[in-house]
Amino acid sequence: MDLYGKDLICTQDWEVDELEAVLDLAAKMKRDRFSSAWTSLLEHKTFLMFFYNPSVRTRQSFEAAATDLGGHAQYLEPKAMRLKTEKTAGETIEDAAQVMGRYAAGLGIRMLEDKIGTYGEAEDLLREYAKWSTIPIISMAHDKYHPCQGLADVMGWAEWFGAGPGRRLDMGLLEGKKLLLTWGHGALARSWSSVQEALLIGSRFGMDVSLAHPEGYDLGPQVVEWTQENCDANGRSFEITHDPRAGYDGAHVVYSRHWMSPNAYQGGEFQKQEEIEKALQYPEWIADSEKMALTDDAIFTHPMPVDRNHEVTDGVASGPRSCIYDVAENRLHAQKALLALVMGNL
Ligand code: CP
Repeated sequence: MDLYGKDLICTQDWEVDELEAVLDLAAKMKRDRFSSAWTSLLEHKTFLMFFYNPSVRTRQSFEAAATDLGGHAQYLEPKAMRLKTEKTAGETIEDAAQVMGRYAAGLGIRMLEDKIGTYGEAEDLLREYAKWSTIPIISMAHDKYHPCQGLADVMGWAEWFGAGPGRRLDMGLLEGKKLLLTWGHGALARSWSSVQEALLIGSRFGMDVSLAHPEGYDLGPQVVEWTQENCDANGRSFEITHDPRAGYDGAHVVYSRHWMSPNAYQGGEFQKQEEIEKALQYPEWIADSEKMALTDDAIFTHPMPVDRNHEVTDGVASGPRSCIYDVAENRLHAQKALLALVMGNL
């Protein structure tokens, strides 16, 4: 299998065995982080990172990943780049992408909620870069997907159902496990990227999926359709409920996260304050110990940053079945493996 030069914009674009190759390598890199087997894989190579939106984990883990592999990650704020937009003259993506390919070995882009005026705009931008670029384009979270988060999620869940973090990874352990992906009330008006990615990658790895949200918080129709298709292909179930408790029954993984409503881009602008005010009207949508007691001893997962005591109580987020820090750590290992495979000298 040769993944050299391959873009990663959504895990649904990749075959399951390609995703497994990344995860297998990530597990090996996690066991022996600074082995000389890895520390020169990106020697002299640069990974460019465009952050339209803030980040803690993504920036830090990509920078650390490039360093661990002997390369360099260069941080760029697109406002410094004089790119052409609908409202301003400037450089086209075609030109920018072709030149960057002469300098670097890979390019990551983050573009989220308030940097776009309609759902799908960030995805279009990434696909435009991918069209013109000679180097791999990696989503570092955009309006639709967060593929590196998805890889770290399933790696963490499989570790918890197996020998434990840092031990042998068996992705087959996710088959037949029930993932509850539930909306949580909150004050952050978050995009759909992480939760949509989790639905897709969880269903690709054979999980039963329960999606729970209040009426009016539907996710993208394409993602719902793909999740159904993934579950059908694996002989697994997919249900959608609008009851804040129903999905917990028998769940093995509980993922509680706020996301904005499909009305968030009314008028071609992100309606952040309206979204926050609306979301705070649903206080019963929170992962708490009473609901977790309905599960099959589920682990609690979240991509972070956590909106504590809105999306999840402190007791659950910091409890003995919380895998949030392991998943956050796995961002580093999954991204190291990804960069090594698509940019490196393997
Ligand atoms: N989960 C995640 O992408 O975190 P950051 O927004 O801090 O990068």
